[in-house]
Amino acid sequence: MTDADQNPDYWQEYGPFQKVKHDLIRNYLGGWFPKLGTWAGRVLYVDTHAGRGRHRFGETGSPVVALDTLLGHSHRNELFRKSEVRFLFIERDPANLNRLDAELKAIGELPDRVHVHTSAGDAYALLSGIVNDLRSSGQHMAPAFIFVDPYGFKVPGKLLAQLMAAGRVELFVNVIWRELDMAIRQKQPSGHGMAAALDDIFAGDSWRAIDGETANERMDQAVELLSKGIGAKWYTYIRMTTGGSAVRYLLLHLTNHPEGRKFMKECIWKVAPDGGFEVRQRDDHRQPLLITPEPDLTPLRDWLIARLRKRPHARQELDDELRSELWLPTHLRTILKRLHANHEIEIDDSSEQISLSRNPRQLSLL
Ligand SMILES: C[S@@+](CC[C@H](N)C(=O)[O-])C[C@H]1O[C@@H](n2cnc3c(N)ncnc32)[C@H](O)[C@@H]1O
Repeated sequence: MTDADQNPDYWQEYGPFQKVKHDLIRNYLGGWFPKLGTWAGRVLYVDTHAGRGRHRFGETGSPVVALDTLLGHSHRNELFRKSEVRFLFIERDPANLNRLDAELKAIGELPDRVHVHTSAGDAYALLSGIVNDLRSSGQHMAPAFIFVDPYGFKVPGKLLAQLMAAGRVELFVNVIWRELDMAIRQKQPSGHGMAAALDDIFAGDSWRAIDGETANERMDQAVELLSKGIGAKWYTYIRMTTGGSAVRYLLLHLTNHPEGRKFMKECIWKVAPDGGFEVRQRDDHRQPLLITPEPDLTPLRDWLIARLRKRPHARQELDDELRSELWLPTHLRTILKRLHANHEIEIDDSSEQISLSRNPRQLSLL
């Protein structure tokens, strides 16, 4: 197999998919660097499919986005007092890597606490070597954010699981859903090429249980199984759709840390404020939104009422339970305020216990 970039046209344009990918990285790292940097002493950003660093009309690629996020961070000096930050950019195509090196060089001299390393070759082979070295020396990986951005749908689930287990590691994976779904639906018998590829992706044959009727049902099942196989407690994803509603890609964030889950949800709400957790290819990313769409909070209201019907809840308890939903604490606060103003709930000021009102004035429609 050749090392050459299989899809050089990728670099000729820059659409909503790239923009959202990069916005999420920028927003997430903006919070992640200082958060981990205060205690870890060293943090690591890895771009497994780093690319050229720049698109044809000047938009920056993910390695430059990640590095710029750190260099332009308002707390960078405080961060550097406590931590160093290492970047590893892996790229298989030598011409792409040369261009990336030139882009990085153009950034100029880096602060002492920032180390950038580019590496030629196959990302998965390189990362397997790193995992094996860590294992044989009994060491952990520094807290890491690993961005996996291949063109194709084949990602090695077992290796990703080993990386997750190697330390406080978070993964951000571009899952090429349309092709993955097609492969799953073939349901080939074991031993066949596609079945073996799926066994690799899911780190086992759990994918055979995916039986949803609709693509969305299969997607939810697949994401849950992938996350489980990779060993992530929390998964959060945004769908990228083409044309109508067909999903082309998923950007999937995996973490074992509740803070990471909470923060990625906030980042996704920022890029998709209507709450659909979806980005459409036809959206014009160059036009700023004149009106930020308001999410429909009715399902959250129903979620809350269903809980309170069972028993009163403390505020913190509701916040904790909300983590596995897509809603944010700020949405919950909005609903609580509305229900309280409408006398549908009672909030005990001293204990912060929230209960359904014994005497609701009327049912609000929100
Ligand atoms: C989707 S592009 C990466 C885009 C980049 N992450 C960004 O957001 O700017 C995929 C890149 O991965 C490279 N590539 C493909 N297979 C690879 C592999 N196994 N290991 C490392 N790089 C690979 C390709 O040459 C291409 O440059």
